[in-house]
Amino acid sequence: MVRIVLLGPPGVGKGTQAQFIADRYNIPQISIGNILRDAVHSGSKFGKKIKNFMDTGKLVTDELVIPLIQKFIKHKDCRRGFLIDGFPRTFFQAISMKQSNIIVDYVLEFKAPDSFIISRTAGRLIHPSSGRIYHTRFNPPKQRNKDDVTGEPLIIRNDDKELTIRKRLETYHQTAKLLIDYYHQEASNGYVKFFTINSTKSIEEVSTEVTSLLG
Ligand code: AP5
Ligand code: MG
Repeated sequence: MVRIVLLGPPGVGKGTQAQFIADRYNIPQISIGNILRDAVHSGSKFGKKIKNFMDTGKLVTDELVIPLIQKFIKHKDCRRGFLIDGFPRTFFQAISMKQSNIIVDYVLEFKAPDSFIISRTAGRLIHPSSGRIYHTRFNPPKQRNKDDVTGEPLIIRNDDKELTIRKRLETYHQTAKLLIDYYHQEASNGYVKFFTINSTKSIEEVSTEVTSLLG
């Protein structure tokens, strides 16, 4: 059983590696951004509440996100482990996770300079119903603008406009330090294994590094 959390700025490649890790270790993948985007698309009351935060690159408030992760951890088949991409994002979320007895074995922090991130998000395409992620240059679909598995059309994310990306990066830089410091402390107390991964390399090279760290 392995319980993994992925941290890192927008567009660094968390979702791309999450798909690979969840397949390789046969564990459920919980991608908070996908869950929140689905809620917005559904037009539900909850979706309406969070839409503006997401479209403007701000974090959805802790009171709305924390119960959501608790619900997913309970409902998904997480007894054989799990992979969470996009939570926790704040020190408070990390503490609340620990208080809810959600134990984590590995925390992987993906790192790349903002310039890499801007160019990656600029070419990103997604298949909304599965969450599969492509890139026009770095990970193109087999057929232009079509999902490899279903052949359905790919779309550009609402929050992938350059201005919104810059806002998301700013939000990340404001909140990440406390969170990363917290996990460094947890690691030095022996509660988690914490690794930082250079995500400027190719998708395959990053996957190889992740595999060698997780074993
Ligand atoms: P979320 O959907 O989680 O977005 P994010 O963290 O901003 O990260 P991204 O999904 O944009 O990037 P990624 O790291 O997954 O990169 P990807 O693999 O796609 O969250 C969206 C919003 O939801 C937030 O802004 C916030 O409003 C809200 N939210 C979410 N969680 C929350 C929380 N806990 N609390 C409060 N609010 C929350 O890769 C990017 C592109 O690069 C792709 O096209 C990919 O093909 C390509 N690529 C990936 N790796 C490489 C590589 N090594 N080389 C070249 N290209 C690559
Ligand atoms: Mg993602």
